[in-house]
Amino acid sequence: ELGPYSHFMQKEIHEQPKALSDTIEAVLENGFVAELFGTNAAKLLPQVEGVKILACGTSFYAGLTAKYWIESIAGISCDVEIASEYRYRDAFANPKHLVVTISQSGETLDTMEALKYAKELGHTMALSICNVRESAIPRASELVFYTRAGAEIGVASTKAFTTQLVGLFALAVTLGKQRGRVDAAAEHGYQEALRQLPGSVQHALNLEPQIKAWSDKFAAKQNALFLGRGLHYPIALEGALKLKEISYIHAEAYPAGELKHGPLALVDESMPVVVIAPNDALLEKVKSNMQEVRARGGELFVFADLDSHFSESDGVHVIRTPRHVGVLSAIVHTIPVQMLAYHVALARGTDVDKPRNLAKSVTVE
Ligand code: M6R
Repeated sequence: ELGPYSHFMQKEIHEQPKALSDTIEAVLENGFVAELFGTNAAKLLPQVEGVKILACGTSFYAGLTAKYWIESIAGISCDVEIASEYRYRDAFANPKHLVVTISQSGETLDTMEALKYAKELGHTMALSICNVRESAIPRASELVFYTRAGAEIGVASTKAFTTQLVGLFALAVTLGKQRGRVDAAAEHGYQEALRQLPGSVQHALNLEPQIKAWSDKFAAKQNALFLGRGLHYPIALEGALKLKEISYIHAEAYPAGELKHGPLALVDESMPVVVIAPNDALLEKVKSNMQEVRARGGELFVFADLDSHFSESDGVHVIRTPRHVGVLSAIVHTIPVQMLAYHVALARGTDVDKPRNLAKSVTVE
């Protein structure tokens, strides 16, 4: 079942080009049409005036990424909340807001309960982004987008996350199109970006030997810091969670602009700092944050692309993806942080597919 791979997590990381192309197939065939989200979607989506995303863990980070796309492409306000927090607070419900739950398993109790609570509060439109057909959460939702990642066995979410991002990106573009913010040329551009995505992800996978070479530097550490900005901040969060979850190294993620507001105090020679730094509009800002880290002796491990202009130097290690892929760069830059966590865990000899204390599907509180 594992084929040439040592663990399900490694296999699932490498399955991403296929999982992504299966998930985008319908978008490439039909464009960004409401029907991608179910038969009721043509009626419901045009009524949407805001989006509220509810999820846990890695799925929550998919939601944080989606917020950037939904607000910039669709021009609709979007807030993202941890399901276990939402379900226990006196929340305000606007029935014109679409509730979007994100769950690989479709059975996560906190997400399911948050959805029920949203309905009790008066929400009437719910969309589930889910990988398991006919599971509890999509069954309780008016609309559904099934990711086509195939079964995910490793406890660490990998291909589920990147395919969720595709579903959420498709939602942002579809809402934007309905609101007249995405014209035919822009739609074509977004379709092309999706068409090229599996190839770009494959290029990122090819970086595995370089990333493996970094893993020894992390294996002996107690802590790691992950930094990103904008769309790459949620990817920093995801990288930190992956590392914690499977290697048991304490890792934290911050938006790089927050360094001076506290976490910079943690940085010294013993702190590895992973930076997601592709050539987007915030790169210059990220570079100055990197200098802040170097000035305190922190060792930088930078995931960049060929267009991010800076070079390796003392204490600055750089791995580059072949080119900048624009709006979907967050998806491509997820691959290196997954592989880093995997190889660090291997170097530490932990149980990669079944990390201690965790279950694949969290059906209890
Ligand atoms: O099945 P779900 O997507 O609802 O699961 C949510 C989280 O439990 C899950 O993403 C968890 O954080 C992963 N183990 C992270 O790799």
